[in-house]
Amino acid sequence: MRHDRDDPRFDPHRRPPRPGKPSPPRRRGDKPPFPPKRKPPRPPPRGPAAGGTTSWEHVASWYDRLVGEEGSDYHRNVILPAAERMLDPQADEKVLDLCCGQGVFCRMLAARGVRHVVGADASESLIASARQRGPAHVRYAVADARDAAAIPDRPFDAAACLMAVHDVDDLPALFATLAAALRTGGRAVVIFLHPCFRIPRQSSWEWDDQKRTQYRRLDRYASDMAIPIATHPGRGGDEHTVFFHRPLAACLNALGAAGLAVVAAEELLSHHVSQPGGHSRGENRARQEFPVFLALKAVKL
Ligand SMILES: C[S@@+](CC[C@H](N)C(=O)[O-])C[C@H]1O[C@@H](n2cnc3c(N)ncnc32)[C@H](O)[C@@H]1O
Repeated sequence: MRHDRDDPRFDPHRRPPRPGKPSPPRRRGDKPPFPPKRKPPRPPPRGPAAGGTTSWEHVASWYDRLVGEEGSDYHRNVILPAAERMLDPQADEKVLDLCCGQGVFCRMLAARGVRHVVGADASESLIASARQRGPAHVRYAVADARDAAAIPDRPFDAAACLMAVHDVDDLPALFATLAAALRTGGRAVVIFLHPCFRIPRQSSWEWDDQKRTQYRRLDRYASDMAIPIATHPGRGGDEHTVFFHRPLAACLNALGAAGLAVVAAEELLSHHVSQPGGHSRGENRARQEFPVFLALKAVKL
């Protein structure tokens, strides 16, 4: 059986893990137990000249509700604690959150006492929500993360880019902006879906009955891919964002080419636990083996 219960991008729309017996295996030729998904719309053309920015403006109200004041489930339990731990921001430092969305990490930084925080994102509505949520001393800017000159208040001591590396079409430009925003010796933390294990539509959990093991299946990995993601799966409509997958070496090389030297990495595991019964032991073991997110800390050379 193929499934991806832990898909962390849109967790609120996922059904909770079911306790008890798994459904019987499907045989070749069996009809699927649910109507086939509608074919997703084609992704927009890539690149600024053809398609403008990859801003989440068109899904801003949905994303704002999803993240809320303190973050989604994965934000609160995995992403934000790791970002804070790895960035280790100090009260008197200038800190940038690039592609900040509605400002969830900026609020956390401000609440930890960091006095000079700037958030930048291409979506006007998400920035408007961030401003409205406050606190007033956090500065926000509508800016394209592929354009270093668009980021105000440079240089920064530290910068974060959370869950956006795969949402920006031009990775070298994104990392060049991150580097240009930092002073020499400044540090950056980027956290994104682990490119080796979490590729929408191309990776999934599967169950091996003989070994009673849940394993990670990968259908593609080494190719760059632009993958449309429906933001309201199962609810009709065709709102979608585009996920840009690149293999691990491409991500690391893009950081290096921007003058950002990786000094630490964490492979972040899911905090979810299956209800007892059925495959729960295998599921829980697999969650402790296959990370969901990759977190990298880099220093500007
Ligand atoms: C998954 S959201 C993450 C937002 C925020 N970091 C968080 O963790 O909630 C991705 C964000 O990247 C922003 N984004 C995409 N392309 C961008 C670009 N070229 N410049 C600036 N922001 C961009 C989107 O508008 C969206 O807010």
